[in-house]
Amino acid sequence: MTTPDQTLFEKALAAFKRSYSPYSHFPVGACIKTTSGNYYSGCNIENASYSLTLCAEGTAISQMITEGIQHIAEILIIGSGEALCTPCGACRQRIREFANEDTRIYIADTNGHRATFTLGELLPHSFGPHNLEHIS
Ligand code: THU
Repeated sequence: MTTPDQTLFEKALAAFKRSYSPYSHFPVGACIKTTSGNYYSGCNIENASYSLTLCAEGTAISQMITEGIQHIAEILIIGSGEALCTPCGACRQRIREFANEDTRIYIADTNGHRATFTLGELLPHSFGPHNLEHIS
């Protein structure tokens, strides 16, 4: 599917609205859908010590891992502004840990879906768990 289901969008939007972003004033929401049809959402959480900021994708992954799930089937990210709110480089790598090159990454704003990418498009030739498989 190249468009997200409405639940994925609505859960990401709910997370977006709970963002703690008093410094950048740039709320971000994310929601992961798993192969079993569960949803895990997150939002960015900023800090007065700026570099401690957590991205929305990372907090969504934290929710998923805490619930015992380790695979992202698809993820939707909502940001605002003219430019597409694609995941930052660090978050592409965070997603990579629990996804594969065909995993769909939906980009939206508060009005709805704007674009669809695969992880392979956003992070080609990635380093990942397979690089470490020979180490026991
Ligand atoms: N941000 C995310 O939550 N995810 C990204 O992939 C890019 C950036 C947040 C971090 C910060 O709170 C705000 O957006 C502005 O950089």
